[in-house]
Amino acid sequence: KQVSIIGVPLDLGQGRRGVDMGPSAIRYANLQERLQKLGCQVTDLGNVDVPTPESQRVEHEKLKYLKEIVSVSNHVAERVAAEMQQGKFPIILGGDHSMAIGSVAGVTKANRNIGVIWFDAHADMNTEETTPSGNIHGMPLAVSLGIGHPDLTGVAGFQPKIQAKNVVLVGARSIDEEERLIIRRSGITVFTMHEIDKLGMSKVMSEAIRIASDGVSGVHLSLDLDAFDPREAPGVGTPVLGGVTYREGHLAMEMLASADMVTSVDVVEVNPVLDVENRTARVAVDMIGSLLGKTVL
Ligand code: ARG
Ligand code: MN
Ligand code: MN
Ligand code: MN
Repeated sequence: KQVSIIGVPLDLGQGRRGVDMGPSAIRYANLQERLQKLGCQVTDLGNVDVPTPESQRVEHEKLKYLKEIVSVSNHVAERVAAEMQQGKFPIILGGDHSMAIGSVAGVTKANRNIGVIWFDAHADMNTEETTPSGNIHGMPLAVSLGIGHPDLTGVAGFQPKIQAKNVVLVGARSIDEEERLIIRRSGITVFTMHEIDKLGMSKVMSEAIRIASDGVSGVHLSLDLDAFDPREAPGVGTPVLGGVTYREGHLAMEMLASADMVTSVDVVEVNPVLDVENRTARVAVDMIGSLLGKTVL
């Protein structure tokens, strides 16, 4: 595989500093070397320019840093689309999850028929009307489905980016009251921790893969590290107890690898300031290793 790494040190989508260092933390955990050992041809394209919060003003309390995030998203979309068009497999390093507005836009600009697996403790399905925080990192899945402020849904000049019938959320356990209604109305498939506990990760992932890849030409994986249990991945801004274990995560990634449908991936919400010895970035790199074909024997 020809892999292109793109860093997006964006922290404007949420309130805690440090997630802008996510790309460095993941690189420091030897992402490139891991991929090369798997036989990938890796090009690291460096980081997309992102403004610092201290040099900006919040103009909109329910959509914090809207203007700046729209601008970054358009740049990310261009960079990602260019790699996809050259047949590369982009790995986009966040940054907070608002970054996925741009990465999903880029992936689908290059290829309109893409399914999505969204690994997350949250649903990221809020809008200006339902958000309890005003943080745009709680909105990117809705935005990609064409739900939300037109400046966000209109990134890269077309919408919606993805179809609900090919969107699967895995690992959810913290959903806001009104966000629920948007999820129900949207028609996406959700496997919460309840389903993972009850059916097992194996059953959940075979269903998720079937649904996300039905009739599409590729699948985008958006991997929010807060999907994992905070005992194993403590370096995230919005941790929620009772998450996916390291073992379950590996199994999920290995099943995705053998299904051979994933064509791009986001790795988001890694915050080394909140972490313990870069553990969360190391979990991220281990997961990407399995996703790209690492096996034990
Ligand atoms: N639902 C909450 C909100 O909208 C938390 C979102 C967390 N999102 C994330 N990408 N970690 O503010
Ligand atoms: Mn998220
Ligand atoms: Mn999350
Ligand atoms: Mn494994």
